[in-house]
Amino acid sequence: MLAFVKDAGYRIGEFEFKAGWLTDAEKSTLDVLASHYGDVARTPEKLSDEIDLSHLRADVLRTFPGIASASETIKDLLETRYSALILKRSGLAGLDLDQQRRILFLLCLALGWPTPTDRVNRQIIWDIKKRELPAGQVSTFSENAYEAKLHTDTQYFPNPERYTLLYVVRPADDGGVSLIRDGHHIVDSLKNGSQGDWAFQHLSRTKLPFRIPTSYTKERRQDVAEATFAPIFADKPLIRYRKDTLEAGLKAHPEYDTAENRLALYILENVIGNQEFTTTCRLDADDILLTNNHEGLHGRTEFNDHARHLIRIRISDQRHASQDATLS
Ligand SMILES: [Fe+2]
Repeated sequence: MLAFVKDAGYRIGEFEFKAGWLTDAEKSTLDVLASHYGDVARTPEKLSDEIDLSHLRADVLRTFPGIASASETIKDLLETRYSALILKRSGLAGLDLDQQRRILFLLCLALGWPTPTDRVNRQIIWDIKKRELPAGQVSTFSENAYEAKLHTDTQYFPNPERYTLLYVVRPADDGGVSLIRDGHHIVDSLKNGSQGDWAFQHLSRTKLPFRIPTSYTKERRQDVAEATFAPIFADKPLIRYRKDTLEAGLKAHPEYDTAENRLALYILENVIGNQEFTTTCRLDADDILLTNNHEGLHGRTEFNDHARHLIRIRISDQRHASQDATLS
């Protein structure tokens, strides 16, 4: 279902969809979703995890062999040779936005267990575009147009999702270029230097505070900082990292703001910031970027075109990955 195009960077593969993977999905997507969600299937941005997704998943794998086959190939590639896949020309561009959302949701369900971004309405399908927010509310990467430095998603939760899917509805005319970096390459680069090796060991055994964005905390109060304490490097995820949530965590928990931790972070930041090893790519409309969020980092440059529109779905490899669970 996917044809190899080229290696776009270290452990970053570019593929394109072969015609036909959607043939069986175009007609009956709405019916299959409606048989599980009822009328909500007509407004797919409201699809949540509040039904038994395992039954729907079984239906999807049985009813849509094109989607099942594409998801098998994607999973295999992201668990072996690549930490990120650029998938060109998905073939969704001619469909209306709701149908695009439905098919992306089904693809993600075939890949694993899509998770809600919004903790109140438990909305799984998330639009990434610049939004006007009420005065005083701090925006996130998915709501603003600023640069997003290389990071892994939901690093502030105990169990970050295994995969992140981004679909380009409309790219920015200017800026909004995707940045991708493989986590294994970061580990290898660190281990190659004596100080880097020390930093890797230190950041593997030391839990650091990642501040949870206010909108995802239990109390939802800007003045009450909640954090997840976890090491940057581990077996799973291989890497969790985002500079600003880490800085906010250190500010809220100054006892972790030690000279040793700062030195290790400084060494790591120099490795991550080395642009020679960052792959940049301008995604076109109808492209998909899929990352193994446990093994690769992604980001984007700033953009000014406020019509830029992406759809994001995160996918866990655990059926009941609780965002509230504590780390052992
Ligand atoms: Fe992200």
